[in-house]
Amino acid sequence: MSAQGIKADDEKSSQLRSSGYVSRLEEYWYGISHPFYDLMIWFVFLPLGGEAACRRQFARWVDVQPEEKLLSLCCGTGDTEIALFNLVPTVQIIAVDLGAGQISTAKQKDKSGSIDFCVGNAAQTGLAANSFDRVLITLALHEMPYSLRLKVLREARRVCKPNGRVVAIEHAKLDGKLSQAVRYLWWFGWLPGNPEVATSRDLQQRGLATEMREAGLEALERYTTDPSWIEGVVSAPNS
Ligand SMILES: C[S@@+](CC[C@H](N)C(=O)[O-])C[C@H]1O[C@@H](n2cnc3c(N)ncnc32)[C@H](O)[C@@H]1O
Repeated sequence: MSAQGIKADDEKSSQLRSSGYVSRLEEYWYGISHPFYDLMIWFVFLPLGGEAACRRQFARWVDVQPEEKLLSLCCGTGDTEIALFNLVPTVQIIAVDLGAGQISTAKQKDKSGSIDFCVGNAAQTGLAANSFDRVLITLALHEMPYSLRLKVLREARRVCKPNGRVVAIEHAKLDGKLSQAVRYLWWFGWLPGNPEVATSRDLQQRGLATEMREAGLEALERYTTDPSWIEGVVSAPNS
């Protein structure tokens, strides 16, 4: 990215809305979308074998152990967190999202009532440093400009225990032109003004593991879905 591009990007994330969202459009979208967000996500995951299977796969990538503490940033309507709880019912989960509607939908879906879903800002959680065994960010960084992605990753590192793991799950960089085109079409890349197209492309070009390293996290493992549209990078805080 050029110096001008970096400046524009920095300005974007220093001019966050008072809600914490990067733009009025995103604020509006997440203000209204929670009633039909799950339907849209159901569609999005169809080529990957369905949402339920993918969420279970994400939960396995996180590899959380019984009794451990997990923080999920930008949890949305809570499907990965519920899959995690179903996999390891003794895990303690705190899950935050800026959207009050997302959080209320997540709470309704959590039949166990054991997951602590709450409204909060992933860039500044106010939670104690070094306090979580696992910190998870699922499919949210690609909607953020670079400087905000780094803030969120640094916050994930700050709250993660020194021997814990930060797991980021994101749009993977695809090599084949055909798979790039199919994913672009299936994931609404053609939608006029879709703001995630530029930020997702920027994330893929820079590389998720590279950005995690810039935030003080060392990538240890990488997983992908089949087809490899989504990657999960498991990392540890640098000492
Ligand atoms: C594409 S959705 C992903 C939701 C969920 N993790 C999933 O896998 O379905 C992105 C989510 O990030 C949330 N979000 C965006 N910026 C945020 C921030 N700074 N702090 C917390 N949540 C944020 C949005 O409200 C939205 O629910």
